[in-house]
Amino acid sequence: MGAELRLAVAVVLSCAACGSGSEGNTPPAPPARPTALSALHYDAAPPDVDPSNRVADDPVARAFGQRLFFDPSLSGPLIEGDNDGSGGTLGVKGQAGRVSCAGCHVPASGYVDTRSPHHQISLGAQWTTRRTPVLLEVAFAPLYNWDGRRDSIWGQAVGVMEGNREFNSGRLFVATQMFHLYRAEYEALFGAMPPLDDATRFPALTPEEAGCVEVETMSGATYQCRGMPGDGADYDGMAPADQDAVTRVTVNTAKVIEAYVRELRCGPSRFDAWLDGDDTALDASEQRGAALFIGAGKCVDCHSGPNLTDEKFHDVGLSPAPVAVAFTDSNDRGAADGIDALRQDPLQTSGAYSDGDRHAIPATTDPSLVGAFRTPPLRCLSSHPSFMHTAQLATLDEVVAFHDRGGDPPGNYPGQSELTRLGLTDEQKSDLVAFLGALDGPGPAADLVAPPGGATTP
Ligand code: HEC
Ligand code: HEC
Repeated sequence: MGAELRLAVAVVLSCAACGSGSEGNTPPAPPARPTALSALHYDAAPPDVDPSNRVADDPVARAFGQRLFFDPSLSGPLIEGDNDGSGGTLGVKGQAGRVSCAGCHVPASGYVDTRSPHHQISLGAQWTTRRTPVLLEVAFAPLYNWDGRRDSIWGQAVGVMEGNREFNSGRLFVATQMFHLYRAEYEALFGAMPPLDDATRFPALTPEEAGCVEVETMSGATYQCRGMPGDGADYDGMAPADQDAVTRVTVNTAKVIEAYVRELRCGPSRFDAWLDGDDTALDASEQRGAALFIGAGKCVDCHSGPNLTDEKFHDVGLSPAPVAVAFTDSNDRGAADGIDALRQDPLQTSGAYSDGDRHAIPATTDPSLVGAFRTPPLRCLSSHPSFMHTAQLATLDEVVAFHDRGGDPPGNYPGQSELTRLGLTDEQKSDLVAFLGALDGPGPAADLVAPPGGATTP
């Protein structure tokens, strides 16, 4: 309303200046924008209720989740030797309690990783195999990760805790840490905790003992893990009811973190101001880029809706190139494997640890999902240090050039590319890049991107 009034006043003033007479009383209708562009308008409404998490929108959980997001004390030991304590690493191999969510989803950098060496894939306990995605607007996604491996943010967070590339921890250690560090906060939300200090029922692990260690065997290197299902040790040895209690505490911890993550938004951009009628919000190149995005660029075929993603999985024919420490996964089958794994996931939202089903899991794995990855959202992305699931493209110019040539020639990636050659001119390509820059928003409020009072940064 205020913005409309200001616009009307501006129009009246400019009409007076151009001497067009006395008809300035009725504000003119905003210039019509193509419907295909209006469909990309930012959606400022809160994300849909998450039925799988009853604390998802609880203000107490949000504030608690913010603390946990920045807290490295739920993580186990660093495994990879590239963790040598030098710039960009989180510590030295063997040290525990170094990795927090904020260590890779760096809040001050729009929740992507600008910290790890090389600014491509992330170095947690070990190198991740794919690039850390942005968390802004993530609550709007039905499935998570580049490959759709999870159907909830909390399921993803438990996966991170038990993943030996990220936290390298386990649910037994996480639950006992929560008991020692955050019992009052936890009980205020979920009621009494199990007696996690009773080491006869819940084996006590030091931070260095949590998670996995790499061991050499006759048939090569393998992992020996402690404090999680399948460990053949501390966790598997507990009574089933105690295993369940530990899992519940860890899942609830992850649900608290989700409550914070759901608040992370990019916010409206200059493009949205232009859609709302402000002709000056985009320069000529950005306006041409917007037209190309829905026109000759065919971008909107996949990058549709308010976050410029169809939330589906596509094969764009990316031949993996070495990144960071010469890491490549040339046979990453993407969503074909991710969706299969999700259907078997005991932490899926139709399971026992969920408060309700999100109904997002496809019944079957379509063959077209081989080599397909989730269409990334395009808001708040221009400052990212690298692009694509592999992080092998360093600039938006390279990304647009990649799409323009219809992806890489077949042969070095699984599946079949859906892209076709566009043959855009150099000017058209730079217009598209300019348009992508006009999708930046203000990002989350300052009090969300910093650790809450008194907490330490990772
Ligand atoms: C070591 C780096 C690292 C850490 C630490 C980390 N993440 Fe991530 N995160 C990633 C990577 C890499 C992916 C993508 C994984 C994939 O697609 O295979 C990801 C994916 C996600 C996603 C899915 C995003 C999307 O668009 O689909 C969410 C949500 C998420 N992480 C939340 C968290 C939370 C919460 C924590 C802390 C509990 C955390 N992450 C800690 C690297 C990290
Ligand atoms: C067939 C569907 C499809 C079309 C058409 C398409 N994209 Fe994409 N785009 C994707 C997918 C899928 C990815 C991620 C692929 C990967 O990482 O393997 C992607 C990645 C991107 C990225 C990198 C984002 C990031 O976070 O890494 C940008 C930028 C982008 N596309 C812009 C465009 C533009 C501009 C156009 C039009 C010229 C376009 N896309 C057309 C599916 C598509």
